[in-house]
Amino acid sequence: MIERTYVMLKPDAVQRGLMGEIVQRLESKGLRPIAMKFMRIPKELAERHYGEHKGKSFFPGLIDYITSGPVLCMVWEGENAVASVRGLMGKTNPQEAAVGTIRGDLAQQTGRNLVHGSDSVESAKREIQLFFNEYELVDWKRSVDAWLFE
Ligand code: RTP
Ligand code: MG
Repeated sequence: MIERTYVMLKPDAVQRGLMGEIVQRLESKGLRPIAMKFMRIPKELAERHYGEHKGKSFFPGLIDYITSGPVLCMVWEGENAVASVRGLMGKTNPQEAAVGTIRGDLAQQTGRNLVHGSDSVESAKREIQLFFNEYELVDWKRSVDAWLFE
């Protein structure tokens, strides 16, 4: 099933110069970029994005972290894109994330885990609408798609 998912490179990914490496991994998997936007998230948008975690002990620290510098907001499309990106990211805690995943290879702690990816198709819809207008989502095909999708 072809899906879209919301992916966000967090401030540590930007500050550590890892945007290129992480985007490279998504491209190499064959996922198709649909939208990208570099921005500093206002606090209220961060709180809406992570609304499911409101009230948890790590929530204030999470909001401080995610608003501490610019992030790269993206939409990617592909076969089972939601689960596919979660797989490429690895587990939330980088110490539990498998080698070969973004967090497993490149991160140290849960509170500095580099990347966000939607956890369901419903979350993806909500998050894409939160960060992008309809006209910012680019419908396009690549010539290489014939070698990725039969
Ligand atoms: P994300 O939403 O950012 O893609 O991460 P996730 O699904 O793997 O993990 P989630 O449970 O949704 O947690 C969101 C983010 O909150 C921070 N966190 N800190 N200190 C803690 O116990 C703790 N737990 C979560 C992480 O930055 C996590 O990615
Ligand atoms: Mg999550």
